[in-house]
Amino acid sequence: MSVPGLRLLLLVLISLCIPNVWADQSLPYKIDIGRGGHCVRDPVWMRKNHMNLLIHQRDLTVREGKPNKEIDLRNCVECHASTKDDSVIARSDSFCVACHRYEAVKIDCFECHSGIRKSAWLQRNAK
Ligand code: HEC
Ligand code: HEC
Ligand code: HEC
Repeated sequence: MSVPGLRLLLLVLISLCIPNVWADQSLPYKIDIGRGGHCVRDPVWMRKNHMNLLIHQRDLTVREGKPNKEIDLRNCVECHASTKDDSVIARSDSFCVACHRYEAVKIDCFECHSGIRKSAWLQRNAK
């Protein structure tokens, strides 16, 4: 191979490596995002603002009687529950656990709300 050809190959190889290094640094924990698809808002925005969105909607639903099918914990769980165990809280890498553990945030939401994907729960309890 010619020298310019080698340089090009090297450049391509290097540029392939960089995103992987970044990905490792931005996520110091393992997280199971569930089904995938499209979040109810931009994921980067959600990372910072999901708690405000949820608390605000709780007030709208409970105090003002204005439910919203999209910003509903059941909707979050339906999509973000693991495809392995249908839960957002069962394991240390479950969706609503992984970051919180890492950031040392405690939430009590799932003492009342179900952390299990409803479609799976219905199937299990239909017998
Ligand atoms: C139809 C599927 C779907 C629904 C419904 C959904 N999400 Fe998401 N959400 C995603 C996907 C896909 C991502 C991007 C995950 C990734 O690649 O990191 C995401 C990202 C996020 C993130 C940022 C995660 C990260 O790694 O930075 C948070 C927080 C979040 N969602 C919370 C919620 C909450 C709370 C709800 C309910 C109000 C919800 N999501 C509803 C699919 C969904
Ligand atoms: C990408 C990481 C990440 C994911 C995924 C995530 N959270 Fe969070 N969550 C955080 C961080 C970080 C905070 C603390 C933010 C702060 O203190 O400003 C937080 C705070 C919260 C709070 C407020 C707690 C308090 O007392 O201040 C609630 C409620 C919450 N998250 C609910 C959820 C639910 C429900 C899910 C799963 C659908 C979820 N989070 C998934 C990172 C995440
Ligand atoms: C003591 C029990 C309890 C706890 C703890 C609790 N909730 Fe709720 N929540 C309720 C009840 C009851 C309703 C009204 C019934 C409904 O609409 O599902 C509700 C409604 C909601 C709603 C609107 C409807 C829905 O299901 O999404 C949101 C959003 C919500 N809560 C978020 C939260 C978040 C976030 C936390 C944790 C910070 C939390 N709740 C903790 C009992 C609780």
